[in-house]
Amino acid sequence: MDYNILVNKDNPLPRAHIPNNLVDATSKYKDNILIDQKAKEAFDKLKEEATKNGYQIDIESGYRDYDYQEKIYNRLLEEKGFTYAVTRIAEPGKSEHQTGLAIDFCVYRDDKCYIENDIKDLEETLWVHQNAHKYGFILRYPEGKEDITKYDYEPWHVRYVGSLAEYLHTNNLTLEEYYDKKIN
Ligand code: DAL
Ligand code: ZN
Repeated sequence: MDYNILVNKDNPLPRAHIPNNLVDATSKYKDNILIDQKAKEAFDKLKEEATKNGYQIDIESGYRDYDYQEKIYNRLLEEKGFTYAVTRIAEPGKSEHQTGLAIDFCVYRDDKCYIENDIKDLEETLWVHQNAHKYGFILRYPEGKEDITKYDYEPWHVRYVGSLAEYLHTNNLTLEEYYDKKIN
């Protein structure tokens, strides 16, 4: 498994790509979640540390296969139109959820689960953004880098990159910038 894999609008995965280290990551929020084994181990540790700080986080979305991504892509496209969808959801084959290394996390408060933009200003979310790199995760679509990632700010979407996370976090780099630098 290449934990540094770049999947984006210019670097798609084949329809048949299925990662081979998927494990069950069923959360309090949802059944039938699969993610990469190492990403799961790392997220469990992040979650444990969050709990010690009084914060409750969990997984809302993990691995999504090509067909499922196609379904949710088409649904958003129909509901909101292309201009809205293009910066919010990846076309099938172009979502890093298909790698098994991406996690959309949710925040629990008072037995209620908050997701997506509802977690934007929560202190739990800020804590995750400040600490996820210690466990091998980066915030994949940060605020201010929309022109580079080609997606809106997604405060909920973290990506497991293993040991590369420290470097990317310290240097405030997206994966796109990291690969650009390597090539140039
Ligand atoms: N929302 C992200 C970009 C995805 O669909 O993979
Ligand atoms: Zn996501």
